[in-house]
Amino acid sequence: EDRKEESYKGTPIKELFTKPDCVKNTSPKMSTVDHAILFKHPFIPDEVPEPYPKLYIDKWHPDYVYMPCSPENKYPKSMGREKHIVERWPLIQDALRGNIRNSHDLERQIKMYNTRQWDFDGLHDYFQFMDEGERTEIFKKTIPNMVVLALEIRKYCTQGIPLLKANKNRSITMTQHQAACLLANAFFCTFPRRNTRKRDSEFANYPDINFSSLFSRGSRYNTRKAEKLHCIFHYFKRVTDEMPQGTITFRRQVIDHNKCPNWASSDKPLTRLHVTSKGTIEDDGKGMLQVDFANKFLGGGVLGHGCVQEEIRFLICPELILSKLVTEKLEAHECLIMTGCMRFSNYTGYADSFRWNGDHFEVPERDAWGRVNTEVVAIDALVFHQYNDQFKTGLVKRELNKAYAGFYAGPDIPEDNNPAVATGNWGCGAFGGDLRLKALIQIMAAAEANRDVCYFTFGDNKLRDDMFEIHKYFKDRDLKVGDVYSYILQYNRNYCQKYAKPKKNLFQYILKAEQSGSETEEENEAETPI
Ligand code: AR6
Repeated sequence: EDRKEESYKGTPIKELFTKPDCVKNTSPKMSTVDHAILFKHPFIPDEVPEPYPKLYIDKWHPDYVYMPCSPENKYPKSMGREKHIVERWPLIQDALRGNIRNSHDLERQIKMYNTRQWDFDGLHDYFQFMDEGERTEIFKKTIPNMVVLALEIRKYCTQGIPLLKANKNRSITMTQHQAACLLANAFFCTFPRRNTRKRDSEFANYPDINFSSLFSRGSRYNTRKAEKLHCIFHYFKRVTDEMPQGTITFRRQVIDHNKCPNWASSDKPLTRLHVTSKGTIEDDGKGMLQVDFANKFLGGGVLGHGCVQEEIRFLICPELILSKLVTEKLEAHECLIMTGCMRFSNYTGYADSFRWNGDHFEVPERDAWGRVNTEVVAIDALVFHQYNDQFKTGLVKRELNKAYAGFYAGPDIPEDNNPAVATGNWGCGAFGGDLRLKALIQIMAAAEANRDVCYFTFGDNKLRDDMFEIHKYFKDRDLKVGDVYSYILQYNRNYCQKYAKPKKNLFQYILKAEQSGSETEEENEAETPI
């Protein structure tokens, strides 16, 4: 306990608002407008949700996911010297029902309905270094079960699945069974039109979804692909052993430009802060709005080489990967909220040291819609190559509005008691952002969205202490969001526009600005002028 005391500062985590307690008396409202619900609702606890409608309706349309089982899905099949355009679904069925005894068989069968020159060396490596018993289980049991799951798509995914296109609020709710079926199809690379992201192709603005790149080895051998495959097979083992009977929702949330806060004049007080150097968003942010440090193409490199926060989250909660099937690349003022995705795996390490670390089982507590109580919001930060750029007013505003779009609780939700935001060094790893600027931006956006902040510094004690200090400084003086904003602008004017590498960080600047009582006190300091 004592040690725990030391690892955090600010409000104790238990005092922050979390779901389901903070929403106890309000049944989860969910609009059915612009909402595709792929099963018969209302959801009835302890009953297996049924697909809706009962029978498959084909919706081959640019606003919907092109389904692998559609009669419109065609393939140029070589017959002797000629190529014939044939229906692709029967080909897929034949291929996957063929004999798949090892990874080379799997490669050959997947290539029977895909023209691409994919490399499956990562997959071969994975099985080569695996012990016999495990390999046998996968080929004798898991993969055959996955084939059944994939080929039942017409039975389970009977309704057209709308694409979540840019600039439109829209939701999709599906059962975990439907999600598993779609993911099995992604694994076998059956989704049509999704194998190219050439600039003028129809799905150039969508993430990749077929798993082909997960099977390649890439330029150099490392354990990433194997560990990722482990997470994926583990998920399929679990769901084919015992299918979870809940639901999940993907909601694209757009904030109109004129509804974004006026940051400069905002007089919102800062909300509470819990800041800790121990723990992670997924382990300790239970019942909170958990931030995914996203790529604007959802999932980033989860099916490729990437292995940082977003990718790891998607690997331990593979249902999140389905966001890639439906979500057009995020624009500046939008986010994707994913509710109900279950965690299946534990892990250790990060990036090259990432390792699958056994099963993760949690007793599913579900809301009235059948969703487990986990809410993940994807917000994509900007990439910065030039350190000073990020302090420019327009870019600060972009990040503020992005975070606000993510933290906004929706028009139907009461103003207070929103679950806290569980976040951390958003945009500050792969994307090169400044820790202190991004922390303030998130604190400001959370204040505007009436949410407390639970911040994981990921081992950084100094940042924890600094954040606590600056937050206290603002609170003690009753400074508002608009005041914090003006400090950032001052710092930009007085430092970032003048010096190639500011010596004082943003917090040091703010804490000193008052003492010196002047905006331009740093004139005498020996910094490198630009
Ligand atoms: N909980 C709390 N903090 C974490 C966790 C965790 N589970 N994991 C990492 N951190 P990064 P970005 C901290 O680089 O800069 C992906 O490819 C840790 O300090 O993932 O926004 C996406 O698809 C880490 O350095 O986020 C995007 O393409 C920091 O959070 C891109 O990365 C930032 O994690 C986004 O990069």
